[in-house]
Formats: sequence, C-alpha cells, structure tokens
Amino acid sequence: MSHIKISKDWEISGNLATPESVFMSRRKFLQGTALTAVATTALLTGCTSPPHDPEVALSETEKKIYPAKRNENFQLDRPVTSEQIAASYNNFYEFTQVKEDVIVHAQALPKRPWTVEVSGLVRHPKIFDVDDLLRTMPIQERLYRHRCVEAWAMAVPWTGFPLKALLKQVEPTYKATYVRMTTFYKPFTAQGQLAFWEPWPYMEGLTVQEAMNDLAFMAVGIYGHPLPKQHGAPLRLAVPWKYGFKSIKSVVKIELIDYRPATFWNTLQGLEYDFTANVNPKIPHPRWSQAKEKMIGTGEIRPTLPFNGYGKQVAKLYA
Ligand code: MTE
Repeated sequence: MSHIKISKDWEISGNLATPESVFMSRRKFLQGTALTAVATTALLTGCTSPPHDPEVALSETEKKIYPAKRNENFQLDRPVTSEQIAASYNNFYEFTQVKEDVIVHAQALPKRPWTVEVSGLVRHPKIFDVDDLLRTMPIQERLYRHRCVEAWAMAVPWTGFPLKALLKQVEPTYKATYVRMTTFYKPFTAQGQLAFWEPWPYMEGLTVQEAMNDLAFMAVGIYGHPLPKQHGAPLRLAVPWKYGFKSIKSVVKIELIDYRPATFWNTLQGLEYDFTANVNPKIPHPRWSQAKEKMIGTGEIRPTLPFNGYGKQVAKLYA
C-alpha cells in the first residue's frame, strides 16, 4: 500500500529540512513498517484526537491555571494561526517525518507521570514533577511567532513560564556556560527513534545568557489548554527568535554544562543547521532562501524578519 498525500496549497515539501541521504534511508525504514499507511487510514477514518478534546477533563491543578492571564508585553504583527491547522501540521521526528501524521502517532506518548531533571553545574539539582511546576511557576500566556527552518511559520498563544524562573530555582554556578535539553527516549513508543543511525534522543542547547533571556519560554499549554501530544506535551521549549528546531519538545532533562553540547540537527547535518540558528533572512539555507516565509493555513507570504522580529529583546546577546 502506498502513502497517498494530497498537499494543501500552503504546504512545503516535508523532506526539505532533512539531509537527502538520511531522508531516503528513513523512507525505506518507514515503508518497511507500513507506519504511514496505518496513519493515513486513521486520518481518513477520523480516528485522531482533536487538538483539545473537551471530554478529557482537566486535572485540579490544570483547572487552576487555564486559561492563564495573557502577558500583554508580547504582541503579534499577524493573525493567530488556526488551532486546527497548528495541531495537524507538526514536526516531531520521534514519531514520523510526515507532518500530517504526527497527530496520530504522538497519541502513544504517555503524558503522566512526567518529571524533568534539572542538574549539572547547579547548587540545588532537583527532579521536578511537571504538576509541581504548574503549581509553582509564574504561569502566563504569550503570543509568539514561530519560524521553522523549512520556511513555514505560525503565530500561537503558548501557556507556560520563563525558563529563567526554573533555572533560578536550581541556581546555576558561575562555571555553567550552556544549557542542554533532552527529549524522552522511548523507541518502542516513538518508532522514529528506532532509526539507530540518527542521534537519539533529540537534544538542543542554548547559552546560559540565551536561556536567561526573558523570551526563552517553557510551554505547557497552547490555545488556552494543556499542550496536545503532537506539540510536545507535557512541556517544550519556545525560543521564537531561533529556527523552530531549537524549540525542543517533551523535555525530560535540563543540564547546565560548561561546553557547547552536541545537538540533534547539528550532529546530523552541521553545514545546514548551525548551533545558534537565529532567524536571519539574509543567510540562505544551502538549499533554499530564508528571505520569506509562508504562514500555515492562510498561505500568506511574509518577509522574514531578523531574529524573527525579536531583535529588540535579543540582538544585544550577539553584539
Ligand atoms: N522536538 C523534538 N523532540 N523532536 C522534533 O522532531 N521538531 C522541531 C521542534 N521541536 C522537533 C522538536 C521542529 S523542526 C519544529 S519546526 C517545531 O518543533 C515544530 O513544533 P510544532 O509541531 O509544535 O509546530
């Protein structure tokens, strides 16, 4: 059975961001497991969870935080993306490379219990239960733009807390220069991780200065409710001045270290995905221009802004 996919007019080829050799070997692998055929059937028969199922009751803790008060310091220059569109066009390579199928496969991820270890060069290393973070962190809503390296973009309301609020709890020592974040490793739940030639688990990194910048945000929700699994439940990073691959999903570990960490995309293809990955319309990707972006859903083409429009907040970090 082959995978039939009807592209929407705003869509960008799903394999753009993947090194060709890696992409081809992954396709063979996926064909072998017939995963994509199953996913297509599920989509056609409607066997998918909607972005937020009102039948799924919020926990007592969640009831207290949603909807969170919006922090008005973060404004958009464009309409908010449709929730349905944002929730059904995802990158989550742990599950599949087919953006429209992530919503199906990611449902296998258990959201609780979930802990986040914050350790390394810190005075008070600790394993946080995600529900304790919901209770204790300064939860707020922020409207952020998101620019994928593949030249598509969206604008969404995240609910979450500044990363610096969490880091302050553990007190990084003066030796810490970088922050490394790691996604779960569950190859029998997330079959993309069976690809032994890729550097799983997914890791990303920031400098400590970037992580302490107010814009670096840990999202636990989107559109006024907890994160659906395909967006990286139960918590993911949102660093809107960087290309989307830096915004790592479903984080289980945050380490303070004194060297620049190896990261998933930079290890796979360092010439195409640099560590810093700040949005820059003037530096083309080796295989396409970064001057413009396409809003998912509407197909509107907009000029890409330096630092994705967040230069006022972050340009000083790179002066
Ligand atoms: N995090 C993990 N663990 N795995 C991934 O494949 N994809 C990244 C980023 N975080 C990815 C990830 C990329 S390329 C993008 S553009 C965003 O997640 C997409 O986020 P969204 O699906 O919520 O829009």
